[in-house]
This record gives sequence, structure tokens and C-alpha cells, in this order.
Amino acid sequence: MNRRPNERGAGKSPPSSNGDAQASIAMSETHLDEFTGEIEQSIATRAFVKLTLGKYRGHEPGLKNIYVRLVEVKKTSQLSFLYRYQTRDVFKNHPVPEGLALIRSLIGADFLSAHLFILTADLRIEYNKKRAARLITRPPTFTEPPPVAHDQKKRRHIELDGNVYLRALGVTNEHGEVRERMGDKFRQINKFVETVSGLFVSSPLAGKRELSIVDMGSGKGYLTFAVYDFFNNVLGISAGVTGVEAREELVHLCNDIARQSGFDRLSFRTGHIEDFEVEEADILIALHACDTATDDALFKGIKARAAIIIAAPCCHKQLRPQIKPPGVLRSVLRHGHLLEREAEMITDSLRALLLEESGYKTKVFEFVSTEHTPKNTMIAGIKKSGSAGAVDARRQLEELKRFFGIEEQYLERLLSVADGK
Ligand SMILES: C[S@@+](CC[C@H](N)C(=O)[O-])C[C@H]1O[C@@H](n2cnc3c(N)ncnc32)[C@H](O)[C@@H]1O
Repeated sequence: MNRRPNERGAGKSPPSSNGDAQASIAMSETHLDEFTGEIEQSIATRAFVKLTLGKYRGHEPGLKNIYVRLVEVKKTSQLSFLYRYQTRDVFKNHPVPEGLALIRSLIGADFLSAHLFILTADLRIEYNKKRAARLITRPPTFTEPPPVAHDQKKRRHIELDGNVYLRALGVTNEHGEVRERMGDKFRQINKFVETVSGLFVSSPLAGKRELSIVDMGSGKGYLTFAVYDFFNNVLGISAGVTGVEAREELVHLCNDIARQSGFDRLSFRTGHIEDFEVEEADILIALHACDTATDDALFKGIKARAAIIIAAPCCHKQLRPQIKPPGVLRSVLRHGHLLEREAEMITDSLRALLLEESGYKTKVFEFVSTEHTPKNTMIAGIKKSGSAGAVDARRQLEELKRFFGIEEQYLERLLSVADGK
């Protein structure tokens, strides 16, 4: 087939007669044959990467997309269908021929768009309201085969069935279903444990059977409960988790829910991050702790020599008054809104560099889509064994500060004072 960008349509102009309509239907069938033929062939040649069905027009409440992957179940290939609903995901595996038949029945009927990724091309079939199809071929997004995925029956996510804390925190209703307005929170919880899990396996902690975790500014504890549940009940690792929170009523609430859940190594303490003595922390978490409270938490994590430090900063106020934009940037940063965004980026870049100077490998990334929450930047640090890169990090940090006329970032001050500088 032609792998150059290519688009073929059926029914771009409205059919003017019965004959035209029939020709359009026939052309759409040809496109669907070609599309499903490519799925089948790519599975046979192991060139299949994934298939996404979108623009759902069926009758299943809340269903948005289906994602199809190839998985190995007991040494045989199956097609794994992930049904993504507004508030939950449902997996179903099918033998390949059955899965192919199902895909064919869904495209152009319940789903008006299907996007196929194979190693030689990306193909998209799109239907208009009259169910006339266009087939679009583009160069491939993926040129490496995906790793062989295995059966998803093993628990990977936070379970809804019988989940005491999600019910007590108001995420689920009395039937154990995620409440309409809590869909984003539930998605954020799952994304967070997935992120922590990814960091854990790539850290020096991988393989440890006992962990100590501190969550600074734990709030209502959504993510603290989830991280406890995930390590202890999904990964089977004995993890003690402490939430630190300034608001006493939240601490009481969370301790009550921990008791009800039978989470005997989860406790919440009333206190301020800056005053809290972290005796031991393999993983230090600070999610959405306001302004310099994030710096206090990062500082505590560095000093405790935590192997993993995870922060999702919020409201970056400290640096903003210090920024003196140089030259041409003045015309950009004279707008308060843009200055605010720039201050966020500079603050988080300086935090990442300070972590690097302190012996961490860092990543700054979007951990949950902006669609679900605007507070979605995550800084993750994984402790390295040596101090390689520290000098370079300091040089970059000084350059950045000089460029923007910054005197001192708050975490930098905490670290300098602790080092007696
Ligand atoms: C926006 S909430 C985030 C809660 C939770 N980490 C999350 O992401 O869902 C921030 C919480 O941090 C607490 N907090 C802010 N500054 C703090 C400090 N210096 N010490 C202790 N708690 C603090 C607030 O009381 C609030 O409950």
C-alpha cells in the first residue's frame, strides 16, 4: 500500500442520486475492508502497535473510547480491549478472530473514527454523519514494536470493589461506583499510582520489600490512601505511610478512615511541613503544597536522603517579584499572566537543578492531562549513587538566575543555610 500521506474519500460531496449514494456506500465498504485488512495483516506480521476507536455514537452511557492492544495470555495472542468510560476503565480480552470481527462491527457503526498504528504507517478511517468513510494514511508514528504485554487480570490499579476509603472520601457512591463529579479525581489517583510505580521500578528501591513513605501536605488524603493501598495491596510491599497536614480536622478524618480501612501502617499527623522531622523516608511526596511549602518538602526529602522525591508544585509566588526580564523578554513578561507562567517554569527548573546538584536524576513532566486538572506538573527526583552532574547543575542554575536577575530561590536558601553557607 501507499505509505505517503494520502487521503481517499467516499462521499465528500453529498450524493445527488440513489446511484451516487450506493457508490459512496460501496466505497466506504472498500475503505473499511482495506482498514480491517491492515489490522489483520499487521497482527499476523507483528507490525500491529495499537488501535483506538473514537467518536462514540452508540448507546452505552459514559463510553468514550476503546483502545485495542495485542497481549499474550497463556502463550496465545489475544486482543485486549480497554473500554474507557467517563469514570472507569473496563478490560476485555478476545481471541484474535473474535476481536477482529468485533472491531469490524464497531467501526462506522458505534464509532465514527478509528486510528490504527502499525510499524509501517498510521491509518485513520473517519465517517461523516451520512456514514461515508475517508481513509487517511500517514507515515508511522511508531517504528519499534511494542513490548509484549501480558494479561491484565493482575491487579494494577486502585480497586473500586469493597474500597472503604474511596467511599468514605466521597469518591465512590454506595454502590461502589465513581461519582460523576469525582471522575477526574479518580483518574488522577490512578495516574498518580501509575507514575509512582514507574518511578519505583526504575529507582534503587526496586526489589525492596519494606518501604517508608512520607506525604507532605496530605490534605484529604486521596493520594496518600491510594499510595498506601497500591504498595501494600497491589504490589504486596510492606509500606508504612505518614501523611503530614496542617489542618487538624483533616488529620482526624484521615486517621478515622485509615482505621476503618484496616490500614494499620498508615497514619496522619498534624503539623507544618517546615517543622516536621522526617526520620526516615524512602519516598517523599508533596502534591500541591502551596508555594514555598513545596520547597520545604523537597528540602526535607533531600536531607532525609529519600531515594525518590515527587512533587507537584502549586502557586509559585516567591520568585515572581524577583524576576527582571532581560531585553526582548520584557515585552513578553510585562503581561502579568505570562509572567506568572514564566515564574512557574523558572521556579520548577531551579528546583530540578537543585535536586540534581543534591545528587538526584530529575524529570519534570505533565502527570495528568490539563483536561482533568491545571495543577499537573510533576517534578520527580531519583537518587543517584555518586555526585556526577552536581557542578554542571550549579553552573546552569547560576546562569538561569543571572539571566532573569534572580537573587535566591527558596529551596536554594534552605539548602545553603543547612550547608552553613
Ligand atoms: C491543595 S491541598 C493538596 C492535598 C493533597 N496533597 C492532594 O494533592 O490531593 C494542599 C494541602 O497542603 C496543606 N498545607 C499547605 N501548606 C502546608 C504546610 N506548610 N504544612 C502542612 N500542610 C500544609 C493544606 O492545608 C492542604 O490541605
